[in-house]
Amino acid sequence: MPAIIETHDLTRRFDALTAVDHLNLSVAEGEIFGLVGPDGAGKTTTLRMLCGLMDPTEGSASVAGHDVVRDSRAVKDQIGYMAQRFGLYGDLTVQENMDFYADLFDITGAFRAELTAQLLRMTRMEPFRERQASRLSGGMKQKLALMCTLLHRPRILFLDEPTNGVDPVSRRDFWAILYQLLQEGITVFMTTSYLDEAERCNRVGLIHRGKLIRCAPPEVMKQETGAANLEGAFLKTIFALEEVKRP
Ligand SMILES: Nc1ncnc2c1ncn2[C@@H]1O[C@H](COP(=O)(O)OP(=O)(O)OP(=O)(O)O)[C@@H](O)[C@H]1O
Ligand SMILES: [Mg+2]
Repeated sequence: MPAIIETHDLTRRFDALTAVDHLNLSVAEGEIFGLVGPDGAGKTTTLRMLCGLMDPTEGSASVAGHDVVRDSRAVKDQIGYMAQRFGLYGDLTVQENMDFYADLFDITGAFRAELTAQLLRMTRMEPFRERQASRLSGGMKQKLALMCTLLHRPRILFLDEPTNGVDPVSRRDFWAILYQLLQEGITVFMTTSYLDEAERCNRVGLIHRGKLIRCAPPEVMKQETGAANLEGAFLKTIFALEEVKRP
């Protein structure tokens, strides 16, 4: 499989702080890749650079064959980005929020009606189409944000902690939707702080203080560390690193 996302020494500094430090990774088309790390590790900053929303200080990245700095317009046409705090309009209904984003992406006519109906079906949100977004549960809000992100049929989906604060049942629903999208050939690059969720990814990258400290399929990480689950593997990897650093 050819790489659809590639980074070369991708780096972002904020004054003295290096938020993302020489990141090298590549994601294959059709893969679901999970970037995992503690608060402040550099996950959102990485995603913003890959989506062409923030320039790297050093290094480069390409997404769908386009350089994220020189060709950020072309990148944005190919991707959907669901931010950690996605902008829904609380006083608008589900349908009105979708209409707003459809207008933004210039999606019109019969195709628009068909796509909206299909997304509402897929996410089982049809019964709530007239409900104000502010009155939706956390899980439903995330599903609405996902629908808005999918309206322009992206090839690659960037999701920043999409299930944070969502109950287990809604998380399962959300994953069912992701698997369906993967079957349709979409590539997913997500960040998550739930390690049980990261175990569902094809490959996981562990990021710590801006550095990618390990990148492998979850099973390989577990085998290497002898941990029963990814959480154990993750903690062992980070502790080993801290150990080395001590004098
Ligand atoms: N615009 C900014 N200006 C200055 N510092 C920033 C900026 N954006 C991020 N940072 C810093 O860069 C580091 C990485 O932040 P980032 O948001 O990428 O982390 P994260 O892994 O997404 O964390 P979280 O899990 O809390 O969302 C943090 O120390 C943060 O304070
Ligand atoms: Mg973040």
